[in-house]
Amino acid sequence: MSEKRGVLFVCLGNICRSPIAEAVFAHVVKQRDLTDQWFTDSAATGSWHTGSLPDSRARTVLRRHDIETDHRARQLCKQDFDKYDYIFGMDDNNIDDINGVKPKNSKAVVELLGKYDPQKQTIIEDPYYQRGDKGFETNYEQCLRSCNAFLDQFHK
Ligand code: 4NP
Repeated sequence: MSEKRGVLFVCLGNICRSPIAEAVFAHVVKQRDLTDQWFTDSAATGSWHTGSLPDSRARTVLRRHDIETDHRARQLCKQDFDKYDYIFGMDDNNIDDINGVKPKNSKAVVELLGKYDPQKQTIIEDPYYQRGDKGFETNYEQCLRSCNAFLDQFHK
């Protein structure tokens, strides 16, 4: 059997978008009975929220969809580029910041998660400063569509 492949989701704070993406990916992988083939985590480009649980609005949206998370925010590091095959950013600033940490010889694929969205909503917008949880629900839906489409490439 082939080795497990790793997917790391990255955003600015690792308390809103990327922990949603990670939890959705893990949920979909479990639903598809693929836990022996994929592992996942999420991380921040910034360090402000290190050690924090996801924002309460992110947790509310996940709970509404029967998805669990106990993620604690952490910062992206050079070792992540050895461990993970795919490192997905949510917006163009994330991609620039990820590439700023990426070691020159790394073979990790750095891409926008939204590149896989069949509805072509390429950018997963930062919902942190928005009022309420509407932006978080939109983030959830984008992550769900994109994670499924990403996995569809490997598992028909
Ligand atoms: P995230 O959202 O990048 O989706 O986790 C943010 C969380 C916190 C901050 C910015 C974005 N912040 O500036 O503290």
